[in-house]
Amino acid sequence: MDTEKLKNLFSRCGNGHVFDFWDDLGEPERGALVSQLEKIDFGDLDLLRSKLAAKDSETAGENEAGMRPAPVVALEGASLENAVARGERELRAGRVAALVVAGGQGSRLGFDGPKGCYPVGPVSRAPLFFFHARKILALKKRFGASVPFYVMTSETNDAATRAFFRENHFFGLDENDVFFFVQGMWPALSPDGKIILDRKDHVFFGPDGHGGTLAALKRSGALADMQARGIVSVFYFQVDNPMVEIADPAFIGAHVAANSDFSVKVCAKRDPQEGLGVVVERGGKTQVVEYTELTDEEKCARAPDGELLYKYGSVAIHVFSVPFLAREAEAGLPLHIAHKKVPYVDKAGNTVKPAAPNAYKFEKFIFDALRDARNPICIAFDRECEFSPVKNAEGADSPATCAADPSRKWARWLAAAGCGIETDAQGYPLRRVEIDPAFAADAATLKAALAAPGAPRIPAEGVILLSL
Ligand code: UTP
Repeated sequence: MDTEKLKNLFSRCGNGHVFDFWDDLGEPERGALVSQLEKIDFGDLDLLRSKLAAKDSETAGENEAGMRPAPVVALEGASLENAVARGERELRAGRVAALVVAGGQGSRLGFDGPKGCYPVGPVSRAPLFFFHARKILALKKRFGASVPFYVMTSETNDAATRAFFRENHFFGLDENDVFFFVQGMWPALSPDGKIILDRKDHVFFGPDGHGGTLAALKRSGALADMQARGIVSVFYFQVDNPMVEIADPAFIGAHVAANSDFSVKVCAKRDPQEGLGVVVERGGKTQVVEYTELTDEEKCARAPDGELLYKYGSVAIHVFSVPFLAREAEAGLPLHIAHKKVPYVDKAGNTVKPAAPNAYKFEKFIFDALRDARNPICIAFDRECEFSPVKNAEGADSPATCAADPSRKWARWLAAAGCGIETDAQGYPLRRVEIDPAFAADAATLKAALAAPGAPRIPAEGVILLSL
């Protein structure tokens, strides 16, 4: 587009400042700025501004009377056996895919690079992506059918993510079964509703949230790829949890048997204040209510049996049906707004990293699609076995906990295989342990792998690393 026209358009909508440093820029920088500006959709910008204007009227505690926890199923006995059998059939028939959302910025962890490249292996320092990919490889070995792997990135980390997979030979996966797709980006706004330059020649954009998955699947052709491969169920998870049981047959089977569009795994919250969303029924719909939208009274409310009323939290482990993903790709999800630190240029053109939140970022959340789903179900799982994310640099959900928790699980598997090692009172092993998911994906396969001819021996002392 002609630059004068672009300048007019932006000044008419109160954003003429994006050209403040135009005269200082060389031709390549001008070109880069113009191509960014051309991508800004003024309809979207209006939506972001209206959301900003309405933010003060949205407060916690506006949940209407009658809201109650959604029913949660604990699979056990025959229901577990049936679900596993059904899920295994789906996997054997090649009707299951895995989808990881890896487009986030990982700002709390403060890691410079895609979060999936973050090293978490307690012995090998293998990255998050290794553990995910090797679990998918194990599924292929076990069921004899590929589980295609869809990896959502953002414009910021797409090239680095693809390069990382390539350098690591796709961690043993067939590269034709790995599909990268890029989510959308939105500008942040200053409190007075203006776009923000973070360099003289660059507008700040942030990823549009994990809710951006739905539109990105369609836009990128990933959805069409799923349909062409005959995929029926998509196991969805977040990149930062190395313990996730990818496409576990019980969850897949329960989802398919219920003819569900959208199934949610939930676990008991650590305490009433833990920052997990809860699945509720209100207004005739099943929905996820974010913890920020619950009052303290609601968070601490007790059921008649004395348990927390909203006992279970969602950790973003889902299964979607492909027809639902196709329908929802067209549906508009609501916008969420967050006050965040956003770098900006000062009057002299220097980039400033603010110490306190200075701007608003906008995101869509995938769980908002739950209200459109038919037959949604919630399945309870044991967090000690499946959930220990790396979110923060220190403390809870940090690199230390996300290395220790899988080690505790591996120590349990070793004990079940008759090769128990010394642990502390909480079951954490006293030496470093790591098991490559392609070597053994659970206690039973570990037992078989250790009993096979030529199997490695567990050393009497020192680190234990079992890999292929
Ligand atoms: P989080 O909300 O924990 O965000 O994302 P984050 O970006 O990883 O970390 P912080 O909040 O900046 O510290 C949960 C999951 O959703 C993905 C993330 O990659 C992570 O797997 N995600 C989040 C996206 O793929 N895109 C987004 O726009 C946001």
